[in-house]
Amino acid sequence: MAELLELIEKTRDGISLSLEDAEQLVTSITDGSLPDYQLSAWLMAAYCKGLSLEEVYFLTDAVARSGGQVAESLGIVDKHSTGGVGDKTTLILAPLVSSLGVPMAKMSGRGLGHTGGTLDKLESIPGYQIDLTNEAIRAQMEQIGVAVVAQTGELAPADKRMYALRDVTATVDDISLIAISIMSKKLAAGAKNIVLDVKVGNGAFMSSLESARELARLMVRIGTFHGRNVRAILTRMDQPLGFAIGNAIEVNEAIHCLQGHGPADLREEVIELACHMVSMAKGISVEDAMLEVVDALDYGSAFHQFKQWIAAQGGNLTAIEQDLPLAPIVKEWVSEQEGFVRSIDTHAIGKVALDLGAGRHKIDDSVDLGVGLLCFAKVGQSVKSGDVLATVYARSEQHAAQAIFLLQQAITLGETNVGHASSAILDTIVSQDEVSL
Ligand code: URA
Repeated sequence: MAELLELIEKTRDGISLSLEDAEQLVTSITDGSLPDYQLSAWLMAAYCKGLSLEEVYFLTDAVARSGGQVAESLGIVDKHSTGGVGDKTTLILAPLVSSLGVPMAKMSGRGLGHTGGTLDKLESIPGYQIDLTNEAIRAQMEQIGVAVVAQTGELAPADKRMYALRDVTATVDDISLIAISIMSKKLAAGAKNIVLDVKVGNGAFMSSLESARELARLMVRIGTFHGRNVRAILTRMDQPLGFAIGNAIEVNEAIHCLQGHGPADLREEVIELACHMVSMAKGISVEDAMLEVVDALDYGSAFHQFKQWIAAQGGNLTAIEQDLPLAPIVKEWVSEQEGFVRSIDTHAIGKVALDLGAGRHKIDDSVDLGVGLLCFAKVGQSVKSGDVLATVYARSEQHAAQAIFLLQQAITLGETNVGHASSAILDTIVSQDEVSL
């Protein structure tokens, strides 16, 4: 067996790690025998020298198995988003695809970001229980085919250690390291069919289409190599998805979408992701899946399934008969000029939600479920004087005024139209390229 120092030397010198090396490295990350300073050095070496495709395959598999036995999958399809502002698609997709006979069980986290994670959002519904025993999850899946719960046990614990160190060693934005991190967790979660929503734009990890395509292709190849069906959908994140950013406010918008309404970009993206999930799970064409998906949204079966799911996990259905209540101080940004929305600093909009209290700076911070905002501005949209561009829900006048001020900095209006992409969907990667070594 190589000394751990030799593994760092190999990566520093651009020599590919063997299967055995990759196993040894990941074991030492998981059991702690590789100290932080050596793991940091290895991460920086990998960042600067790059990793070969075979190393990426080996490392992903080893990280996926670092929590012991790979989880038994309860659903046949899984989805993952690389993350963005206003992304509430899981809240809609889980009931939507399961209403079409495609079971989906999702273990979610709380999330560190501009808003809480899916679990925080769901906890805006009074009574909703996130901690279910494995038996309870299994029973619920048998009964209604959908569950969204807190993670039990540790999924890919080696990734947790690597991610924490990447965060503080400027090694987050490396395509191979991101692909290993995401795909190890997807492999560990066990689903045979995986749809990846890879976000592109100034509110995402990948700001260019080119880099997003590279990440998507790599993740599809990793999944295919490990015997999974994977499709990656590249979607816009140069503006928030939908209007709502926050927790309860995003649940409200998700419910509108499940009732056949909601913002056009959110509906388009949900339909696209759902079509791929249903088509993969049922082995039908995307076009045939589209008919089922649109029907489920527009004729009530997706919303009916949502209510069954929320009730099964203890949520109070009376509370969602109307929109969930939001923070009491409501302020609008009303445009005083005519023109067009030229650009949106999506990251800055996420920061506005965070500053209102919708997200966490540290993992043990508490989240205010009622604050948030509706950002109505979309790139390329024409604006008239008197149009409401955003509405803020805050706990104090001062927070609300500060949020409106920051929104005015983040959204640029101008006299001429810069145009805009007509679709939220930028590309689809379904390649089954040769994946053998
Ligand atoms: N999401 C992850 O889970 N890991 C990364 O490295 C980046 C995004």
